[in-house]
Amino acid sequence: MSQPILLGVNIDHAATLRQARYREAGRTCGGLVEPDPVALALAAEHAGADGITVHLREDRRHIQEQDVCRLRDAIATRLNLEMACTEEMLQFALGLKPDSVCLVPENRREITTEGGLDVLNQGDRIGEIASLLAEAGIPVSLFIDPDPDAIEFAAELECPWIELHTGSFANTTGAAAEREFDRLREGCERGHALGLVVNAGHGINFVNIRRIRTLPFLHELNIGHSILSRALSSGIAEAVREMKRRMNDPRT
Ligand code: PXP
Repeated sequence: MSQPILLGVNIDHAATLRQARYREAGRTCGGLVEPDPVALALAAEHAGADGITVHLREDRRHIQEQDVCRLRDAIATRLNLEMACTEEMLQFALGLKPDSVCLVPENRREITTEGGLDVLNQGDRIGEIASLLAEAGIPVSLFIDPDPDAIEFAAELECPWIELHTGSFANTTGAAAEREFDRLREGCERGHALGLVVNAGHGINFVNIRRIRTLPFLHELNIGHSILSRALSSGIAEAVREMKRRMNDPRT
């Protein structure tokens, strides 16, 4: 039997929700400050998540340093830190020593990561950061589009993993989606043939997972928004029941 595909749960959007209310609170957890991404990460692990992924962005719009440090101590699986190729993030990662780093492109104005790393124009910088991390014993994954050049670049750098960007497939329909799917399939095959472990992520949801899981040689999927969204809607019934009970029942 083939190996099961592993799940890395990206919990950034638990922090998005917290920051919407408590950005100025001066603390990231405790007291009334909620939700706590660390509590959600532990619950995700209990439900079978194989790893926890966070993206500490330059603008700190969701996850904060303190969250990442608390996760490092609290979780029992693996901490995968997504980060841009900057000196600030390099120093943070070297101090934190996550179980892995996934290098991602970052653009201040984007709503979420919009594409894979630009290995053509920023290959030197990516290579430099990847080797400093590898020298410090931190395995590196490159978040790339399923382009042959990008995959070969990752293999030349001797990165153990690539994470193929599934967003273009997730955001298209019809013939365009079929073309994107073929690119992903070829990307998985090429990556595997070059000795890379092939992960994938971005835009994966409860519908397109049926197709994505058929990609060959998939090791792990990193999924965030759809799992957090589902958690909100599947948990709301209990939250409303509990609030009504507390509003009206003198025993609570
Ligand atoms: N993988 C990478 C490299 C990402 O940047 C993101 C989004 O931060 C994800 C996976 C998760 O994407 P989504 O939230 O769409 O599931």
